[in-house]
Amino acid sequence: MKVAFIGCGSITKQRHAYEYSLRKDVEIAGFFDFVKERSEELVKKFGGKVYSTLDELLDDKEVELVSVCVANAYHAEVSIKALKKGKHVLCEKPMAITLEDCQAMVAAAHESGKRLMIGHNQRLTPAHKRAREIISSGEMGKVLTFNTMFCHGGPESWSVENSKNTWFFKKSSAAFGSMADLGIHKIDLIRYLLGDDILSVYSQMRVLDKTFEDGSPIEVDDNSVELLTFKKGAFGTVTTSWTCYGTEFNTTNIFCQKGILKLYSDPEYSLIIVHSDGREEKLALDRMQTNSDSQQASSGVIDEFVDSILENRPSILDAEDIIKSMQAVFACQLSDKKGTAVNI
Ligand SMILES: NC(=O)c1ccc[n+]([C@@H]2O[C@H](COP(=O)([O-])OP(=O)(O)OC[C@H]3O[C@@H](n4cnc5c(N)ncnc54)[C@H](O)[C@@H]3O)[C@@H](O)[C@H]2O)c1
Repeated sequence: MKVAFIGCGSITKQRHAYEYSLRKDVEIAGFFDFVKERSEELVKKFGGKVYSTLDELLDDKEVELVSVCVANAYHAEVSIKALKKGKHVLCEKPMAITLEDCQAMVAAAHESGKRLMIGHNQRLTPAHKRAREIISSGEMGKVLTFNTMFCHGGPESWSVENSKNTWFFKKSSAAFGSMADLGIHKIDLIRYLLGDDILSVYSQMRVLDKTFEDGSPIEVDDNSVELLTFKKGAFGTVTTSWTCYGTEFNTTNIFCQKGILKLYSDPEYSLIIVHSDGREEKLALDRMQTNSDSQQASSGVIDEFVDSILENRPSILDAEDIIKSMQAVFACQLSDKKGTAVNI
């Protein structure tokens, strides 16, 4: 099979193209980006050709797989076009910027008979997978509450643009700020860990510190707090921040009837199971990847995308399930606007 990449920024370079380059059964066909030099750079690094237009890439009959790694506002348009041209699509998060766009993406996948998956890497980390098994086995009792946070210093130094005028800070290209950029990972993760759906959300978003180059405030939130209530009764918080300067938090605590699951809060032990008698089981399963890692090369997202297609089996990255996490994101936007809780 051959793969092509649409959008040649940081996540294509650090994760998608790199992880594909490790697979012997997939050949890199080429790259397209609005900014040609970015495609050229990745061709030099990973091989394949530079496509001059999106249509040229999508008309290449040999390309069966595409990675959609463009700015959020274009996820739906590009993914739908690719599905209609008969490509399997791995689209980056957040899936799209409206619920209607998310639904149109899923409909396009059904109509074309091709697969549509979303790059939710947090579902695939070893400690998260283990925590899901523990919760679903019932050995820790019911989940009562949780807190989860994803906080770092902001996307401006991560983006290939490397500027305070990055698309991440503009409504027209990003649509969302930290709540959806980082919060979608955690909202989706909690749904995945609990095996439950969200009943209601209450969200507050702020622009506290980030500015464009000219000093004016950015157009999307740089901090947010969400209160999520689940159907089976668990409730808890999601905290996101782009103003967490100097370090990163990407941690989750799940409080159950028989103890606590602590995820990625210890640098050595990615899962600590605290039993109600105080006994601790410390498991060194993996380490959470950070934006400062030089190569985000072991997310497992590419392997899961390709293997589930080759094995013709459902995937935990399938868009049909991820859309339910996006519903919560849109409900959070509405909640912040209205100043009240919003039912889903
Ligand atoms: N899963 C994750 O953990 C993760 C991490 C980082 C980024 N992302 C997501 O990946 C996407 C890309 O982010 P990034 O960090 O690579 O950003 P980036 O700024 O580094 O790169 C984006 C690239 O896309 C190009 N582009 C934008 N719109 C385009 C279009 N319509 N057609 C062709 N090229 C286009 C830009 O020119 C730029 O080169 C975003 O949606 C982001 O949310 C996901």
